Amino acid sequence: MKTLTIIKPDDWHLHLREGQILEAVLPATVNSFRRAIVMPNLIPPVTNVDLAMSYRQDILTACPGDCDFQALMTLYLTDNTSPADVKAAADNPYVHAFKLYPAGATTNSESGVTSLPDLMPTLEAMAEYQVPLLVHGEVTDPAVDVFDRESVFIDHVLSPLLEALPQLKVVFEHLTTRQGVEFVLDAGENVAATLTAHHLLLNRNAMFDKGIRPHHYCLPVLKRETHRQALIAAAISGNRKFFLGTDSAPHDRLAKESSCGCAGIYSAPVALELYAQIFEDNDALDKLEGFTSLYGPDFYGLPVNSEQITLKKQDWQVPRVISAGTEEIVPLCAGETLKWQRA
Ligand code: DOR
Ligand code: ZN
Repeated sequence: MKTLTIIKPDDWHLHLREGQILEAVLPATVNSFRRAIVMPNLIPPVTNVDLAMSYRQDILTACPGDCDFQALMTLYLTDNTSPADVKAAADNPYVHAFKLYPAGATTNSESGVTSLPDLMPTLEAMAEYQVPLLVHGEVTDPAVDVFDRESVFIDHVLSPLLEALPQLKVVFEHLTTRQGVEFVLDAGENVAATLTAHHLLLNRNAMFDKGIRPHHYCLPVLKRETHRQALIAAAISGNRKFFLGTDSAPHDRLAKESSCGCAGIYSAPVALELYAQIFEDNDALDKLEGFTSLYGPDFYGLPVNSEQITLKKQDWQVPRVISAGTEEIVPLCAGETLKWQRA
């Protein structure tokens, strides 16, 4: 049987939630990933170091058995985040970044930033202390077409920001467009991007396949095939600016299967297996380990993991649903057969 052994990967963009969802989703992430950058969009959001330390403790408590998982915490940027908050984050060994949600851009982003120019002193402190800014790169103007929000964000928000602060470390999260790939390639070494398994696997047709598919709805929304091809080219290029971030975002099944279904794809149980499949389908399995396990730590200035994991080429069927106490979560590729699995 074909097997593939790589340095244990990290997930550089993950939603773990709290309570029974946290307990239900953590085992799948721990199984495939040694560390994860944990998103702060809880209710209320994780806006300071004290809240992050308390959330980190909840995650460690929920960790199964002898788990050696490391939660890399992030803080939620608001209109009130101060340079002193940035200094406190820089001084804390468990906090690794700030997350920018433009207010109203996505799930639990109501407390996000309404005007980036008004936050210049805070952003200057991030550049000074080299604390990365993780961006949800979409404008929120309802007049902008939902499929154009990433490219408009680049022109109107991110380019001016990096012109003003050329040293700022930025991770363009869950990149979805050709313009995004080109922007990251043209930017300095201080700008990188994460790529999700679902944006590499699916184009926007997947949301409308013989009916409306709420479990394929996420933000930034899936884009057309030409953009997916640009993302694949970036992922398999071996360029250190592009690394793994699942954006695995669990929601209760009923919150997605609704007249106003919420955004988020729960991919943790299948993500690593899908990345392997996508790299293999593009004759680039030799580039997988850099993307999953080397370039992320490099950007964040962290050591590469010493553990290894093995994947084997053997069909398995993804569960249709994962139970989470009184709730249920439908994973990406629910009920489908995948080619790679953990050995
Ligand atoms: O699809 C998404 N879900 N995109 C985000 O930016 C947030 C995430 C969530 O928290 O559910
Ligand atoms: Zn996310």
